[in-house]
Amino acid sequence: MAKKMRETIISYILPILLFLFAVETHAHNVTRLLSNHPSFSSFNHFLTQTHLADEINRRTTITVCAVDNAAMTALTSKGYTISTLKNILSLHVLLDYFGAKKLHQISGGSALAATLFQATGEAPGTTGFVNITMLRGGKVGFGPKDGDLSSFFVKSIEEVPYNISVIQISRILPSDTASAPTPPPAEMNITGIMSAHGCKVFAETLLSNPGASKTYQKEA
Ligand SMILES: *[C@@H]1O[C@H](CO)[C@@H](O)[C@H](O)[C@H]1NC(C)=O
Ligand SMILES: *[C@@H]1O[C@H](CO)[C@@H](O)[C@H](O)[C@H]1NC(C)=O
Ligand SMILES: *[C@@H]1O[C@H](CO)[C@@H](O)[C@H](O)[C@H]1NC(C)=O
Ligand SMILES: *[C@@H]1O[C@H](CO)[C@@H](O)[C@H](O)[C@H]1NC(C)=O
Repeated sequence: MAKKMRETIISYILPILLFLFAVETHAHNVTRLLSNHPSFSSFNHFLTQTHLADEINRRTTITVCAVDNAAMTALTSKGYTISTLKNILSLHVLLDYFGAKKLHQISGGSALAATLFQATGEAPGTTGFVNITMLRGGKVGFGPKDGDLSSFFVKSIEEVPYNISVIQISRILPSDTASAPTPPPAEMNITGIMSAHGCKVFAETLLSNPGASKTYQKEA
């Protein structure tokens, strides 16, 4: 009887407990965190649309600088394409953990944080860095590196130390590079595409002598 019980525990109950434990310690879900806050529904919607939510959920030690629906309207009314919106919003994902406490204790009163925009390689030079600076009167200003500190820390929305911090800033960070139109893939010529895949000679031969493709196909 005792043996049967032990077998039951090992083969049925233990796997269920392990499964529940695994679910309990599952990584964060930014969509779910923000869904508790209706005034950020537009920001949340566009994190999903641009697939940035998946990227955020894959990472830890991250800070999402969200703006409310009114500040999002100022952005979405500009008619940007979804890939430009992705670049702009990726500048709002800092690759470090800044809870409200840490923000007010930045050593030296100023810090540069790398963002997802920098990490994607879409940002020229160091334009994908965000400057966070303690200002007079305890205000914390945010701005793109070399730009104006025209957005301010408002409040902490959700903190899961030290995996993800979601904070509110007063407005979208103004960045000419992030809001620049993104080149459509079609603009890349065939030589460029194929050389990126190590087929430069093939592409050049093909372009100068279209009939050569048959020969290459036979040889391959
Ligand atoms: C933080 O992330 C790790 C890795 O995804 C996870 O195992 C851990 O449970 C998370 N911590 C919290 C408090 O959610
Ligand atoms: C995150 O939460 C949203 C809303 O609850 C859900 O639709 C989505 O599937 C979740 N994503 C993951 C990766 O669990
Ligand atoms: C952030 O910007 C302020 C104001 O332009 C500047 O004084 C400060 O040095 C910058 N901080 C960093 C870390 O670059
Ligand atoms: C095509 O792309 C290659 C590599 O990026 C570049 O060297 C070449 O000048 C381009 N050709 C045209 C016609 O744009």
